[in-house]
Amino acid sequence: MTDQYAVIGNPISHTKSPFIHGSFASTTAQDLVYTAIEGPLDGFAAAVDAFRAAGGQGMNITAPFKLDAFRYATELTERARRAGAVNAMKFVGERAYADNFDGVGLVRDITHNLGCALQGQRVLLLGAGGAARGALLPFLEQNPAQLVIANRTLATAQAMTEGTSATVCNYGDLAGQTFDIVVNATSASLRAELPPVPASVFAQARLAYELAYGKGLTPFLRLAHNAGVAQRADGVGMLAEQAAEAFAWWRGVRPDTAVVIAQLTIPLV
Ligand code: ATR
Repeated sequence: MTDQYAVIGNPISHTKSPFIHGSFASTTAQDLVYTAIEGPLDGFAAAVDAFRAAGGQGMNITAPFKLDAFRYATELTERARRAGAVNAMKFVGERAYADNFDGVGLVRDITHNLGCALQGQRVLLLGAGGAARGALLPFLEQNPAQLVIANRTLATAQAMTEGTSATVCNYGDLAGQTFDIVVNATSASLRAELPPVPASVFAQARLAYELAYGKGLTPFLRLAHNAGVAQRADGVGMLAEQAAEAFAWWRGVRPDTAVVIAQLTIPLV
């Protein structure tokens, strides 16, 4: 039987994952099918059990189930544990191996696709929710000169960075500080809102990165554009790179991402 994989979320109609993994499967000549499953909000575990019983071998997990998957997993990688969230699982017998490739996908997009090293750079990460938590350790592993987390709710940022070399602050404390790379990991852009970041943080920035994708020029990217930041990107490359990591983990072959990124990219205007 053809190997089966799926992404589970709710809602799920917007997902690009079947397109991405379908493209990876054909370019790497892997015999698999990859579908999208809308999991009931109160029935994540039952939906995953049913997929496994029907022969499912691996899954991606998207909102709002990344915490449910964390609880469902029988084996967690260190970075999934630190992120407190799971975005990929692999099923072997009774075991559900779980990882989180969001952060490494983001790092690979920034360093490899966008050609912007994080090492030795002053990095500002906005937000301290699930998306920011996933990015924290992979960012620190790149040895930035400085990693500052700004969040409206300081306590959340403090809890997230405990025991790490990252520092935290409120948005108001950013006045007068400048960074090389500014990453928006808040959920503000999903509602066309702007995190209250002062435009002055961009004065020496070479890259502004928006984790949301497919939203065009978000208020954050517009602010960066108006502040003269040369390179601006949304999260489409991160989406493709986390998918490639999961694909490699499942299938033992790492697909090239350039074609799917080109196909999914919409102009940031
Ligand atoms: P996700 O999983 O997408 O990260 P989340 O866990 O709900 O979503 O976290 C949302 C993040 O976006 C939080 O850091 C939140 O800030 P608070 O912790 O202070 O609530 C941040 N956020 C959401 N809307 C925002 C806005 N308009 N301005 C600034 N930060 C915002």
